[in-house]
Amino acid sequence: MLRKILWNEVFTCQYFLEFSTYYIGLIWKWYIEFDRKKQRKKESTWRIFALKELQLATNNFNYDNKLGEGGFGSVYWGQLRDGSQIAVKRLKSWSNKAEMEFSVEVETLARVQHKNLLSLRGYSAEGQERLIVYDYMTNLSLLSHLHGQHSAECLLDWNRRMAIVVGAAEGISYLHHCTTPHIIHRDIKASNVLLDGDFKAKVADFGFAKFIPDGLTHVTTRVKGTLGYLAPEYAMLGKASESCDVYSFGILLLEIASGKKPLEKVNSTMKRPITDWALPLACERKISELADPRLDGKYVEEELKRVVFVGLICAHNRPEKRPTMLEVVELLKGEKDKFAALENDEMFKSTVVMDSSAEYSLESVSDEKEAKQEIESVK
Ligand SMILES: Nc1ncnc2c1ncn2[C@@H]1O[C@H](COP(=O)(O)OP(=O)(O)OP(=O)(O)O)[C@@H](O)[C@H]1O
Ligand SMILES: [Mg+2]
Repeated sequence: MLRKILWNEVFTCQYFLEFSTYYIGLIWKWYIEFDRKKQRKKESTWRIFALKELQLATNNFNYDNKLGEGGFGSVYWGQLRDGSQIAVKRLKSWSNKAEMEFSVEVETLARVQHKNLLSLRGYSAEGQERLIVYDYMTNLSLLSHLHGQHSAECLLDWNRRMAIVVGAAEGISYLHHCTTPHIIHRDIKASNVLLDGDFKAKVADFGFAKFIPDGLTHVTTRVKGTLGYLAPEYAMLGKASESCDVYSFGILLLEIASGKKPLEKVNSTMKRPITDWALPLACERKISELADPRLDGKYVEEELKRVVFVGLICAHNRPEKRPTMLEVVELLKGEKDKFAALENDEMFKSTVVMDSSAEYSLESVSDEKEAKQEIESVK
């Protein structure tokens, strides 16, 4: 009798063990699959869009949805079925040869993720249409606040400007130093720094950047960029390197501090580079004269000085004198010793105006649109 009871017990126990092992196995399998899905979702936040979906989102690329137009085509505001807002860049006609490069580049760039870089939501490539989808930035671009439709509202107080310059510097520094291969942007300018709902900077349009393979210091390339922001060696010799981005970023810093355009009209035929105006004032330490009048004197003088001096050294005509973007981030964040050394640089001792090779073609530039020209091969 006792033996029978014991056998029963053992049998029940064994049954229970088998039963629970089976279910634990199932739960484990489910958990692994769930974790894998989560991981996959983290890695790829972009997808391929159907053309129809984007036509629907933008009201068939309606003129009223148009946010603006750049060198690559028009940008439209849109809303997806889930309610999220997007910006769709509709590329102008695209050659067959470039088709393959387009998707490879978009897919590569989709993996580049940083809090200060505008991330891709995806793309669409059906028939002749080539569309790139981004998150919509509710505060549009820095250009619209400095010189465009929002400039009169004065939404960019000094704190916001400081956060924007540090954020944008961190985004570019990530492209230069943390991606493999390194990426040079080649078109840093106010319209390519977008602002999200909290006025956080998101650097855009690095999608058409050139990759620099390891071991190379620069690539010789078709010159692309915007007059006023072009480093002289890049404009004249087509040598693209990280330091060309540093130059453009320097111009952008001066623009943010002063509210002036990179090229200012001085008379009907001449335009003056912002560096030629800012350097003599910096040498004489007339910092307050460099501030954007729209700030109405409400800025932190030490920080303004930092932005201007860093801007000027970045925009030095000799590339070897320019800091790296990593150094720029440190300087902007207030690295005291480095800034003291910068202030004592010979550049800020004399009031001799920098040899401005940028003046090479300014006389022929009459307005903003012309300034956005692309210069063909100068090899
Ligand atoms: N994600 C976005 N959210 C909000 N506005 C955007 C977005 N992307 C672009 N824009 C706006 O659309 C306009 C056109 O952008 P686009 O990049 O095509 O031209 P651009 O920056 O003026 O010149 P380029 O072609 O040289 O980059 C710009 O004013 C830009 O600020
Ligand atoms: Mg742009």
